Amino acid sequence: MINKIPSNTDDTVPVLPRHVAIIMDGNGRWAKKRFLPRFAGHKAGVETVRKIVEISAELRIEALTLFAFSSENWQRPKKEVDILMDLFVSSLEKEVKQLHQNGIRLQFIGDRSEFNQKLQSRIAESEQLTRDNQGMRLVIAANYGGKWDIVQAARQLAEQVRQGTIEPQDITADMLHQYISLSDLPEPDLFIRTSGEHRISNFMIWQLAYTELYFTNILWPDFDRAAYMDALKSFADRERRFGQTGEQVAKIHNA
Ligand code: IPE
Ligand code: IPE
Ligand code: MG
Repeated sequence: MINKIPSNTDDTVPVLPRHVAIIMDGNGRWAKKRFLPRFAGHKAGVETVRKIVEISAELRIEALTLFAFSSENWQRPKKEVDILMDLFVSSLEKEVKQLHQNGIRLQFIGDRSEFNQKLQSRIAESEQLTRDNQGMRLVIAANYGGKWDIVQAARQLAEQVRQGTIEPQDITADMLHQYISLSDLPEPDLFIRTSGEHRISNFMIWQLAYTELYFTNILWPDFDRAAYMDALKSFADRERRFGQTGEQVAKIHNA
């Protein structure tokens, strides 16, 4: 297969994903390698977030969803959880103004009710401030779990059944989809996970049904422009079939 993008060139990527979803993993190992506390890795990870958000907006990617804290991450030592919560608050306080100036619309998915009041307020304020922005959608998945997402959607449908608006046999995938987080966005085209782990870890399991998956050994704090471009170039070389044959897809493209 001909590589459409010579690997040593600039940032021109012919087919860009509309929506990129990233599991930002490897902060702890990054710190450990440097004999630093895990917190240092998380702090360095925030810097990477800033850069990747900037590059994504510059490339005019429509939506970027970042997995910041999973519903399972509460099981970490309390000290690490506390540090992560403090880091969320301070990052929001520091970054939101700039995001707003750049026209970015910030949004959170996940069960925010379990966060402390201060963090809940910062989240609500940042969403409120940026809600009318027309630029990139930046989605932070915090206390998010793919199973939680499906359950909360199912509950809403169940409520409708109880009220008699719909019958159980009327339920379709499209209907459930409407209640799943980010149903107003295209589903992620490209999924990236850093740090060499090859798993989804309960990220957007519904939305990733047909997403192109990309894994890299690079640890999140080291994930830079070049690494991001490699992921985007890999995406540009994929043939998405959505269940069809390669011939059918080629026909649509050549039409
Ligand atoms: C990802 O890095 C950040 C969060 C899960 C909050 P990790 O903290 O999971 O880093 P590793 O996997 O231990 O290296
Ligand atoms: C997934 O990473 C969650 C986030 C990056 C926020 P984890 O490090 O928690 O995933 P596992 O435990 O290795 O699967
Ligand atoms: Mg990890």
